[in-house]
Order: sequence, then structure tokens, then C-alpha cells
Amino acid sequence: MNNATKNNKFSKLISDWYLVNGRDHLPWRKQITPYRIWISEIMLQQTQVQTVIPFFKRFINKYPNLKSLSIASEDEILALWTGLGFYRRAKNIYKTKEIIKHDYKNIFPKKFEDLIALPGIGKSTAGAIMSLAYQEPYPILDANVKRVISRFENIKKNEKKLWKLSEMLTPKNNIFAYTQGIMDLGATACSVREPECQSCPVVKICNSAFQTSIQAPKKHKKKSIKKINFTLAHSKQSFLLFKKEEKTFWESLWVPFDNENSKKEMIFKKPKKTKIKNINHALSHLNLEITIEIFEYSAPFKIKTNLTHQWITKDDINNYGLPKPIKTIIENYV
Ligand code: ADE
Repeated sequence: MNNATKNNKFSKLISDWYLVNGRDHLPWRKQITPYRIWISEIMLQQTQVQTVIPFFKRFINKYPNLKSLSIASEDEILALWTGLGFYRRAKNIYKTKEIIKHDYKNIFPKKFEDLIALPGIGKSTAGAIMSLAYQEPYPILDANVKRVISRFENIKKNEKKLWKLSEMLTPKNNIFAYTQGIMDLGATACSVREPECQSCPVVKICNSAFQTSIQAPKKHKKKSIKKINFTLAHSKQSFLLFKKEEKTFWESLWVPFDNENSKKEMIFKKPKKTKIKNINHALSHLNLEITIEIFEYSAPFKIKTNLTHQWITKDDINNYGLPKPIKTIIENYV
């Protein structure tokens, strides 16, 4: 079999397999619009499908289309990201919808070159939008696709080579079924740890069929620990929160006063009551050990500081981006 025939066969087998075995129930695969594909692809960049589903549904429920999103504030978008992590993605969604509003009259761009110029959209995400939303034959190269095609050709993972391969394997026809199919194949039969070659549609032409042994789970690198000392001032209904500026993590989210920023004695008067709460929270690269001193007051008060801050009422908390552990504390323990 020559290469072109083999490549055609690969894509045909995958798109046929998708029609029978694909995860067509996933919410972004229904009522397809470029907007819905964009939001889902951004969420799926660093997060598993099962985690993304409820976040995607909530997001789409509040902002079903570009028009509704066009008037959202960055805080409102961040609020829908609480618990999903990698908050830079939400900030990029805000920046992108502003660009689409001002430069594209609120119509989602159709050209690959325009898409790839938008914040948060790289070559693979642009390829996914082109192929899934516009049915244009553009290749993608996410982690699943890398694994499927590197096993198919039995080559080591090399970014440049894999892009070339993905381009050659991407068909001109049935691009939607092919793109979704290769993603699903990587998530199921061609999974990282337990490939099930017997149920793979391309087993007969795959160069590493039945050769990839079951792999032991990856040893996680030991993450470093960061200790944080917060002071959370509150009255019966309001919480004093500060917009986080540093770019390391939780950038632009609202958090209690961080004692690293300045002396709390400069900010707070004597509270009516105090409590202490300790929580551990794992980020992708760090384990946080958080101590929160909770200061209770009878009413909100003015403070002198250059830090961006606001008293936010409990009812309004859902309109602000808060890290999950802080939101949990406010909702359950204060
Ligand atoms: N990962 C990235 N994009 C995806 C999609 N559209 N469906 C399932 N998993 C994905």
C-alpha cells in the first residue's frame, strides 16, 4: 500500500468509526456554532472532558452566543471559571470577544489566519475551530492526536514531524467526523495507559499495533509547597476582597487580604470576633497551604490602600471570579 492510500484509509476508517462509536452526546457536538466550538476548545485545552461538561453547560446557559457574551465583564467571565482552573483562559476569552466586537462586528472570524491571531488560540485550537465549526480540512495536534499518530507511524514525539504527519493524515472530506473521531480514539481505544488495539479501527495498518504495553501510571513530580496567610474581613453580609495582581496563579481573581502584601495592622481595625481556618489546595504546579484568619465586624468600613479592593455581598459573590477554596469558605464557614 502506498502512503497516500494508507493515509486515506486511516482517515476513512476513523471517520466511519466515529459515526458508530463517537461520543456524539458531548454538549459541544450538538447545536454546533463557531462560538460554542471556541468556548469548548478553550475549556478543553487543559481540562478533561468530564470536568468540562458542567462548566460548558453553565457558560452556555448564561452566554448562549457571541452577542450575549459581548457585554460581559471580565469578572463575570472569571466567575464562570471558578473551579475550572487555568484562569488565564477566561481572561483570553474576554480579550478575544472584545476583539471580535470591535474588529469583526461581532461575527466570529472564518479565516484560520484571523483565528490564530486571537488570544488563547494556537495552531491546534484554530485547526479545531476550522474543522469542527466550518468543516474546513485543517489539522489539529492535541495530546490525543499526538499519541494516536505517533503510535500509528511508530515514531517518537517530535512536534515538527507530528504536525507534518497530522497534515498528511487529515482528509479533505468528512473532516468533522475525522477530527472528532481521532480525538475520541485517543481518549478511548488508544489511551495513554491501556491501549486496546483489538477495538481500534486502524489496527490493521498501525505500525505499533499490539506493541504498546500497558504503562504504569506516571510518577507525579513532587510539587513545591506555598504557604499563604490570608485575612478575611467580613460583616454579616459583606466580604472584603482584593483583586489578585501577580501572574503566578489566580491572576485577577478576588481573594482575602494577603499578609504578604503589607502589614494587616495598617488595614484592619480590631475585629469583634476572630476565627482561623486552614485549607490545603492543589494547583497543577503547587500545593497551597492556606491559613485564613477570619475577622468579623459589625459593618463594612473604609480602608486605606492602593490595592484594588471591594466589599462584596454574599448575594453578589457569583458575579465575581473567586478561587474555589475561597468561595467554599465564604459559602460554608463564615
Ligand atoms: N479535546 C479537545 N477538543 C475536544 C473535543 N472537541 N471533544 C473531545 N475532546 C476534546
